[in-house]
Amino acid sequence: MKRQQLDADRKKKYSTKSWVIHKFVHNGVDKLLKNPQLVEAATAIKQGEVIAFPTETVYGLGANALSNKAVHKIFEAKGRPSDNPLIVHIADVESLDRIVDNIPGYAQLLMKAFWPGPLTLIFPKKEVVSSTVSAGLQTVAVRMPNHPIALALIKAAGVPVAAPSANRSGKPSPTAAEHVKHDLDGRIAGIIDGGETGVGLESTVVDTTGERPIILRPGGITKEQLEAIVGAVDVDPALQNESDAHTKYTPKSPGVKYKHYAPEALMFLVSEAKGIQEMIRHVQSEVDMKRTEGYKVAILATEETCEAYEADLVLSLGSRNDLKTVARSIYSALRQCDERNMEYIYAESFPVTGLGEAIMNRLLKAANGQVIT
Ligand code: TXA
Ligand code: MG
Repeated sequence: MKRQQLDADRKKKYSTKSWVIHKFVHNGVDKLLKNPQLVEAATAIKQGEVIAFPTETVYGLGANALSNKAVHKIFEAKGRPSDNPLIVHIADVESLDRIVDNIPGYAQLLMKAFWPGPLTLIFPKKEVVSSTVSAGLQTVAVRMPNHPIALALIKAAGVPVAAPSANRSGKPSPTAAEHVKHDLDGRIAGIIDGGETGVGLESTVVDTTGERPIILRPGGITKEQLEAIVGAVDVDPALQNESDAHTKYTPKSPGVKYKHYAPEALMFLVSEAKGIQEMIRHVQSEVDMKRTEGYKVAILATEETCEAYEADLVLSLGSRNDLKTVARSIYSALRQCDERNMEYIYAESFPVTGLGEAIMNRLLKAANGQVIT
């Protein structure tokens, strides 16, 4: 039975189209609106199909947010649990009134400061939004992506576009069209190849239904950036102690509770609390042990440390002083470990401030909460 289901799962339903338009990214939204490939992709969305497209954070898997039937196909293609709601993407602020109620003053300020950009806001939803999008919740998550292809696609489709990250559920998010193809070829109508994404981590998800904003998922916009605009911002307590919080708190963002970003290899995060030299020593001794047992072992290191290591695969995520580059490199590094059939991954930790918060959140999830201190 299980085997049969697996085979059915693998069966290719679509011959997935590929629209390669990364050369036109710099032409701007207006010119892209006239690009025949982009128009073809937008038409497919209008007709109820599912299309993968680049955003500034990661690739998204988009469908008409007003159609239950279209949105259902996203869940099917990803293998996503149906109680995990999707983010609705819009191309202009005017479209917001069509889909949400009650926009508090501080949300207006945040939109003004960070849209288009990697910030998702949660509002009470209007009836028109498909209940499949919101997974039965009374709220809906909305963002305006800062990517010309995404904006042109939404404009040309003429509808808000519901889109999760374009990976199979549980896998690292895609930062390049090849990652999407690897996960979803044959399962969706098409992929727009817009080159590599810039931020590399998903948007920050903020609940704006209460008196004060609450961060439900750290991401491309930092807590410090939000607070500079609206003053104190809360953080969902379920996020603060990832390793044991889930037993005490139910996360407000349903997606946060699922296994995520996981490579095939067993991953461990090594603490940097006792300093970089101690961390290096610790990583290397763990790696040596696994390698003497015959395992293939990878290290996720940084520019400052990668020379110090010996393993089957040592990847530098970038400089410890340049967390933007580190953020951009994580998912593709995890996928490289899979491609090279690594069995264990040891990853360095980062200080949990600024973008480090989102970076550590994703690494911790990929490691399933396993930290070596
Ligand atoms: O950068 C991003 O946000 C990317 C790109 C494609 O836009 N999208 C993305 O979507 O990361 P996804 O589905 O992988 O993550 C959406 C997160 C999930 O944790 C989900 O539970 C949460 O947002 N979410 C969506 N609607 C929500 C709602 N109404 N209330 C609470 N959390 C919600
Ligand atoms: Mg995702």
